[in-house]
Amino acid sequence: MAQQVRGVIAPGKDQPVRVETIVVPDPGPGEAVVRVQACGVCHTDLHYKQGGISDDFPFLLGHEAAGVVESVGEGVTDVAPGDFVILNWRAVCGHCRACLRGRPWYCFDTHNARQKMTLLDGTELSPALGIGAFAEKTLVAAGQCTKVDPSVSPQVAGLLGCGVMAGIGAAINTGNVGRGDTVAVIGCGGVGDAAIAGSRLAGAARIIAVDIDDRKLEKARAMGATHTVNSRGTDPVEAIRELTGGFGADVVIEAVGRPETYKQAFYARDLAGTVVLVGVPTPEMKLELPLLDVFGRGGALKSSWYGDCLPSRDFPMLIDLHLQGRLDLGAFVTETIALDEVEKAFERMHEGDVLRSVVVF
Ligand code: APR
Ligand code: ZN
Ligand code: ZN
Repeated sequence: MAQQVRGVIAPGKDQPVRVETIVVPDPGPGEAVVRVQACGVCHTDLHYKQGGISDDFPFLLGHEAAGVVESVGEGVTDVAPGDFVILNWRAVCGHCRACLRGRPWYCFDTHNARQKMTLLDGTELSPALGIGAFAEKTLVAAGQCTKVDPSVSPQVAGLLGCGVMAGIGAAINTGNVGRGDTVAVIGCGGVGDAAIAGSRLAGAARIIAVDIDDRKLEKARAMGATHTVNSRGTDPVEAIRELTGGFGADVVIEAVGRPETYKQAFYARDLAGTVVLVGVPTPEMKLELPLLDVFGRGGALKSSWYGDCLPSRDFPMLIDLHLQGRLDLGAFVTETIALDEVEKAFERMHEGDVLRSVVVF
C-alpha cells in the first residue's frame, strides 16, 4: 500500500521550499523504499530550488542520505529490508561499454526508480538527483542502495552520498594521490576539505590549502592541510611554487568551478603533475590557455565525476576507516537540523562557517 510521509518540496523557481505530504508507492520490480534517517543539505539542492538544474518543478529535494531499507520489489537480491544503506545518484546498468570496461561512473544507462512519488493531488514529483531524501521515506532503484556497517551514525554516513565522496574520490581515485606527494587544493568548502582529508588518507606529505576566506583555511588545517594560502591578496600559483622549491604540486585539486581557479590549478602543478577538476563550471564559462603551455607541461588534466567512485567499493571502505578513527567524517557535520529547517539551512550556506547542515529524522 502506498504510504504518506512528510517531505521538502521546491514548488517553483526561486520559491521558498515547504514541507508537504508525499505519497510513496510500494516498490516495483528492482526498486526499494528506504526509511531515511539523515540527509545533508547540498548546494545542488539549492540549485534545484533556483531552477538552475531543470524546469521539472516540483522537486522533492535532498540527496546526501542514509537510512534503512523498508521494503524491496520483485527481483531485488542485493539489499533486503533492515539493511542500513547509503544512497547514490544512479544505479548503473552493468552491461554497457563503460560498465564492462570497469568505469561504471560513466555508465550510459544509469537509472532511478521508474515509479513516481507524488503530492496528495497526484502531481508527480521530480526527486533531486533521482533520490529525494528530505522525506521520511523515499523510493529509489535498489541499485542506488549500498550497504555499509550499521554502527556508523546516519548523519555521518549520508555525507558519502555526494559532496564528501566527490572530494575524497578526487584525491584517492581521480588524482591517485600517493605517499609523499605534495597536493594543493584550491577552494576549501565541503568538497575541497574532503579532498584534503582524502589526500591525508593517501599519505600526502604536504597539503596546501587555498581559499579566499580565512575561516575556511582554518577548517582546512583541522582537516589535514599542512600549509594555507589566502589567494585574495596573494597569487596562489606563486605561493604554491614557493612552498615546493619552485616546482609546483604533484597533484592540484580544483574545488571551486571558476575559470580563474581552473587556470591557477593548471599552472600550480609541477611539470608532469596532475590537475583534478572537481568544481563544476556553468555552461557559459570558458578557459583560454596558450597551447604551448598545454603541450609543454605534460602530465594530466582530469575531471572527476562523483569522485570517480564505485559505491560498492568505496562507501563501505570509507565508513570502516571512519569507524577505526582514521578518517574523521564527523568533522563535516556542522549542525543537525529538523526537516522544516531546510530553507534556513540554505540561507546559512553562504555564511562561511557551515560545511554541512544535516537533516536528521
Ligand atoms: N579562489 C579560491 N577559493 C575560492 C574562490 C577563489 N576564487 N572562490 C570561492 N572560493 C572558495 C569559497 O570560499 C569556498 O570555501 O571555494 C569554496 C567553495 O565551497 P562551497 O561553496 O562550500 O562548495 P562545495 O560544496 O565545496 O563545492 C565546490 O565542487 O562538486 C563541486 O558543484 C560543486 O562546484 C562546486 C565545488
Ligand atoms: Zn552501464
Ligand atoms: Zn550534493
